[in-house]
Amino acid sequence: MTAVRVRVSDLARMDGAAVEVSGWVVSVRKGGKIRFVIVRDGTGQVQAVFREGASDGESFERSGALDQEAAVVVRGKVRVDPRAPGGAEIQAHACDVLESAEGYPITPKEHGVDFLMDHRHLWLRSRRQATILRVRSAIEAVLEDELRKMGFFRVDSPILTPNAAEGTTTLFETTYFDDKAYLSQSGQLYNEASAAALGRVYCFGPVFRAEKSKTRRHLQEFWMLEPEMAFTGLDDLLNVEERLVEGLVGRILEEHGEELRGLGRDLTPLERVKAPFPRISYDEAVKILNGKGFDFPWGEDFGAPHETAVAEAFDRPVFVLRYPTRAKAFYMEPDPENPEVCLSADMLAPEGYGEITGGGQRIDDQALLRQRIEEAGLPVEPYQWYLDLRIWGSQPHSGFGLGIERTLAWICGLDHVRETIPFPRLLSRLYP
Ligand code: 4AD
Ligand code: MG
Repeated sequence: MTAVRVRVSDLARMDGAAVEVSGWVVSVRKGGKIRFVIVRDGTGQVQAVFREGASDGESFERSGALDQEAAVVVRGKVRVDPRAPGGAEIQAHACDVLESAEGYPITPKEHGVDFLMDHRHLWLRSRRQATILRVRSAIEAVLEDELRKMGFFRVDSPILTPNAAEGTTTLFETTYFDDKAYLSQSGQLYNEASAAALGRVYCFGPVFRAEKSKTRRHLQEFWMLEPEMAFTGLDDLLNVEERLVEGLVGRILEEHGEELRGLGRDLTPLERVKAPFPRISYDEAVKILNGKGFDFPWGEDFGAPHETAVAEAFDRPVFVLRYPTRAKAFYMEPDPENPEVCLSADMLAPEGYGEITGGGQRIDDQALLRQRIEEAGLPVEPYQWYLDLRIWGSQPHSGFGLGIERTLAWICGLDHVRETIPFPRLLSRLYP
């Protein structure tokens, strides 16, 4: 009988089949005439059991001397067993070693964070990190799927840009032949142009911020999903955001609840993530803060401790609306009833995870937009194309950006964003 090549996640429905699994050794445990080799292949882990006499002699010897992370091919018969991790084990009769892995630096003992970060290229293989990467992949797929269901088209935006989107203090500058260029902080401005072509669009890609902050929530390179909608004001924007986040959490719980549990995540708070999400104004948020003894001055943007304190007052994500115009970016539409505040919306995640989305309604009047660009001290010329959008076919439009890493940290219950992205770029880290 020839063995079929399968992945570990297929084994639970292949009782009795002769299979071949390729993967890496996690651990080896030896008894008198038996060896238990745990193998992982990216879809899961399986125990291969080698028995003296039942396995071929050389393979049996080899199986007892495998290094952690050796690359192996195991052949054997599947035995479905609900008690086995993953629901099946392999009664192995042969094992080939493609490459041994003597001295692999990450061992089951405890390592410090710096050591692990220096070995991030290997740390990714650990069960916990691989699980987080799988959930990240699922989150990205679900978000795109939910947006497509709501009629959005993906239109990507450029990374090299001649203008700032989110303030000049966090720009990464580079050269573009003889000119200056910046790494994109947000695809929003380009999204506004695409939305005037297709109505509902989103872009999804890496964005760059030269943030001088060293916090559990800040990365210098992160991934943002940015939907933008033509003919849409603040209320409709909030409805879409709410539907997207509710749909996301529901589907991740349904499809990946076991993996979240494996990360130690308590699922109860996530089960409460149901629309409608509370909507409060910035003014009300400031009241909450001062009620908690913060002495917070009206007009400032919230920092991480403030976001945490405001969100603690709610059992699900909360929208904070109408921030002071001067605390937000130049493109925010002023509230017609009180131009001191703008039609902005931030969604704060519960449990201390802070702001996961930021957005609002955009200025659609050309003269006002030009004035705001000038007031922000920005050169008008690189924004001429952006002003053009207000000259031909301008309409009220709104959008937001959702940070993938903060969303993933929240859903997985991680206490630092460094575990949410394969290769984090941090204030003091560009390696590996
Ligand atoms: O609030 P931000 O800066 O909004 C914008 O960039 C808008 N132009 C988006 C839009 O309207 N299209 O960023 C949006 C989200 C935040 O809510 C947060 O989740 C995430 O991006 N974010 C970061 N994540 C990790 N590290 C950082 N340094 C982040 N800065 C923002
Ligand atoms: Mg923001």
